[in-house]
Amino acid sequence: MAFQALDDAELAGKRALVRVDFNVPMEAGEVSDDTRLRAALPTIEKLRKGGAKTVLLAHFDRPKGKRVASMSLKPVVAPLSALLGAPVAFAEDSIGPAARAAVNALKPGDVLLLENVRFHPGEEANERAFANALAANGDLYVNDAFSAAHRAHASTEGLARLLPAYAGEQMRLELSALDAALGRPERPVMGIVGGSKVSTKLDLLQNLVTRLDKLAIGGGMANTFLYAQGHDVGASYCEKELADTARDIIRLAGQNNCKLFLPIDIVVAEKLAPGAAARVRDIGHVDDDERILDAGPETVERLCRAMSNSKTLIWNGPLGVFEVPPFDKGTVAAARHAARLVKAGKLVAVAGGGDTVAALNAAGVVDDFTFVSTAGGAFLEWMEGKELPGVAALSR
Ligand code: 3PG
Repeated sequence: MAFQALDDAELAGKRALVRVDFNVPMEAGEVSDDTRLRAALPTIEKLRKGGAKTVLLAHFDRPKGKRVASMSLKPVVAPLSALLGAPVAFAEDSIGPAARAAVNALKPGDVLLLENVRFHPGEEANERAFANALAANGDLYVNDAFSAAHRAHASTEGLARLLPAYAGEQMRLELSALDAALGRPERPVMGIVGGSKVSTKLDLLQNLVTRLDKLAIGGGMANTFLYAQGHDVGASYCEKELADTARDIIRLAGQNNCKLFLPIDIVVAEKLAPGAAARVRDIGHVDDDERILDAGPETVERLCRAMSNSKTLIWNGPLGVFEVPPFDKGTVAAARHAARLVKAGKLVAVAGGGDTVAALNAAGVVDDFTFVSTAGGAFLEWMEGKELPGVAALSR
């Protein structure tokens, strides 16, 4: 897809409405992880340098069209300003007189954050009137929120139809990394998909087996596949009702020459607790009161070998219950192996979605992967092969 990039834009003195994703983790009213704030800096800096007036639009949480005090974006102002090394003004509303006055007060190079766009029902409904009210405060629109691009909302989609629209720097980075991983990857390309539920990743698995050369399935969802193949899974989490679906996916993989890697050994315990007594078992040898909580050492070694023989890796979801040691071992070992291959220049490794970033953080390798997406749901929808409305609108 072709987008207009900021380098193509005339910026001096222009009011740039920039959709960012500041849906950040907060604890006790303070930003507890500023990854998404840092991701927005290159675009903001580029706009400031070009002499634009930067007006940031964002959502926080799901206030469902109402003003909810605890969902204000105000707590973002101080950490963003500290990261930028410049003041960030704040307007108590994203449209109307408060927004207009704050935008009118901006000088070239200034930065303003508007209040949560989701305080207005027109945002999620993608209402033309609301999009028009937002557009009234901009000369151009920049979408830098890949992680919200799966939403067809006024600030993520509608605005692109009302103003000259550009892809921000983070948006461009995400799209080119994802294209390198799944669009036009260097082959062989391998996927690792973990996490607990097959039911939330059906579309994703179905798409991946038609596009990848190898796919490793781990985490709780692997139990459903093992069960579907007739193996006992004891007291493990397992979506038994999806056994047919799992068999369909195995068949589809075969038809598309995608080699599937299911666990060959597993780590079990009677209870999920830190430091619980863990045992390694071959698949099929799980006692009734035992739960499968991680991939076994032979499985991990096999995955590492498969990674070593691949050129590209796309990773979503942990291989085990990585939050509770010792059940983090499989995920950590596989992630570190991938990181080593990236460092040696042998692998392009892209990861994202849900708790994948937390798992890679636990392994201490986030900075060693080729690219780690800031997106959750958008990364998954993109992996499912779906068109993201926010991206599609930019390429009109
Ligand atoms: C996210 O955090 O994944 C995005 O900001 C989208 O948020 P949403 O799921 O509330 O639309």
